[in-house]
Amino acid sequence: MKFIDLDRQYRAYRAEVESAVQGVLESGQFILGPVVEELERTLAEFVGAPHAVGVSSGTDGLLLALMAYGVGAGDKVITTPFTFIATAEVIAFLGAEPVFVDIDPETCNMSTEALASELEKGCDHRLKGIIAVSLYGQCPDMDEIAALARDHGLFLVEDGCQSFGATYRGRRSCGLCEVGVTSFFPAKPLGCYGDGGMVFTSDEEIHQKVRMMRSHGQAKRYRHEVLGINGRLDAMQAAVLLAKFRHFEEEVEARQRAAGRYDALIDELIPGLGRVRVKEGRSSVFAQYTVRVPGGRRDAVQEAMRRQGIPTAVHYPVPLHKQPVFRAYAGLSLPESERAAAEVLSLPMHPFIEPEEQRQVVEALAEALAESGV
Ligand SMILES: Cc1ncc(COP(=O)(O)O)c(C=O)c1O
Repeated sequence: MKFIDLDRQYRAYRAEVESAVQGVLESGQFILGPVVEELERTLAEFVGAPHAVGVSSGTDGLLLALMAYGVGAGDKVITTPFTFIATAEVIAFLGAEPVFVDIDPETCNMSTEALASELEKGCDHRLKGIIAVSLYGQCPDMDEIAALARDHGLFLVEDGCQSFGATYRGRRSCGLCEVGVTSFFPAKPLGCYGDGGMVFTSDEEIHQKVRMMRSHGQAKRYRHEVLGINGRLDAMQAAVLLAKFRHFEEEVEARQRAAGRYDALIDELIPGLGRVRVKEGRSSVFAQYTVRVPGGRRDAVQEAMRRQGIPTAVHYPVPLHKQPVFRAYAGLSLPESERAAAEVLSLPMHPFIEPEEQRQVVEALAEALAESGV
């Protein structure tokens, strides 16, 4: 069994993907160009954002968004420590300081209360914005977070690298605030066959800046208006994404059905086991289906499942304020993030997982939990 079975997906769409890639090979246009533009238009319409800019990865998308907002040395940007390193890395990379606030244990997303109390601490002119992460495929309280951002004159970026396709109060992730960023890393809900990402925005000025900055700050060939990077999306990846996107909504539904089956199996076999909850008024794309194993037994349970041939994963074992690279934060205490890092365990999840496989996973989990005395 695989944690994410990309082979099955490839076999299902093989002819379409190969013909799309063949088209790019024959076009001779490998970076940006009409296929990337078609993907930008298609996905902008899907998320309901006026503009989309194809970029080289989710990380570069976040970096470009912060660059477009002018984030630099001495600035501060609020985010959560319970996310992939890239979210905070881009803040620090620009010489700014991440400000970590704790998470809501139900969803593992940023706690709106923790954010509000951080903002109540008083006016800090160095504070420029917030990156709200839609972890595991579910958006945080975006409207409340957007209201707090507005009240404090802060920009708000949604890190939607795990949540492309998720809905929040009838709207789509990445189109919920001024800037949303997603990743097309192969294992993401909409993944390509390499690295890729997209920046969505409703703001024309940010749009133009991100467009320039992804191509060395050039407005036209060899005319460099601002500092930028090489952050462009390849045509080959865009072609793969356009082919896969035709099946994307079916895949999201398949993921949601699979999550429902996990819920039912856990209710049947391990009632009372903690898991990440999807809040009312939103849907998750289940980039991960994640349970919680308390009492310091998570690693033993993971090992017992591995012995039974069931792959699992931990997203993420160390919260960012405890990472060596962020050693200056080592004294910071964010108990819910620390507890989640010790307890979370993600089960195999992808649109092609079969009900019998899921039963096997949950039976193995029940046995592993019993063995480790949870
Ligand atoms: C929450 C989050 N942010 C940012 C990223 C970075 O995306 P990429 O790997 O495309 O650079 C990822 C993906 O790994 C992610 O999960």
